[in-house]
Amino acid sequence: VHLLTFPKKLAGKKVLITAGPTRERIDAVRFITNASSGKMGYALATVAKRMGARVSLVSGPTSLKPPYYVDEFVKVESAEEMYEEVMKRFEDTDIVIMNAAVGDYRPKKVFEGKLKKTEDELVLHLERTKDILKELGQRKSHQILVGFAAEVENFEENAVKKLKEKNLDLLVLNDARKAFSSDRVEVYIYGRDGFIKRIDEDDKIRVACIILDVVSNLAGGSPS
Ligand code: CTP
Ligand code: CA
Repeated sequence: VHLLTFPKKLAGKKVLITAGPTRERIDAVRFITNASSGKMGYALATVAKRMGARVSLVSGPTSLKPPYYVDEFVKVESAEEMYEEVMKRFEDTDIVIMNAAVGDYRPKKVFEGKLKKTEDELVLHLERTKDILKELGQRKSHQILVGFAAEVENFEENAVKKLKEKNLDLLVLNDARKAFSSDRVEVYIYGRDGFIKRIDEDDKIRVACIILDVVSNLAGGSPS
């Protein structure tokens, strides 16, 4: 299937996609973050749009240019901001794809101004952020929930565990040991009944096409 001729299987669907990393402030000039280019999430947004969906893209900081093709582009920084923006929209959304690399921890307190290097050692106390996807899984009614997981070992076991624990419909798994900022990925898709398909290493737009084809089948999109 080619992007331009992709059937409008998501026509009438409202799709919310999160992309990129989150950024948790330490002080005025420093933060902790995750490795994520945002490319996969932006590719999903591009393809979902081509498939006829109404697309909201909630993005953490990336070096990608804001896409002109989505219906709504929301820039966030922290996991907490992403949580707020996702929750606001959840009720009125049909499909949520949580592709963002959300920070699991954030500094317990943010230093005002800039930390000076007065000590030889510095201890940062971190606290857990909210698990956005897990909460969506608890709240969901009609929505289809798609999660992403980057693992380094026990791939299938971890994937199935996350899918169940977060009450997801699909989980897209990739190998975290492989290049992150790359234009190409290889992924495995799991559904509630287990393994669905492997997508060979390909560019992210084509991978997005295949993922969204599986999603649209679940969403009951009428083929055109
Ligand atoms: N996720 C989320 N909110 C968080 C952390 C993760 O919504 N605070 C979402 C991610 O966007 C992804 C899915 O949960 O779709 C799985 O993320 P992952 O980091 O693989 O799993 P975690 O539940 O955070 O567990 P761990 O990092 O310990 O493996
Ligand atoms: Ca995590």
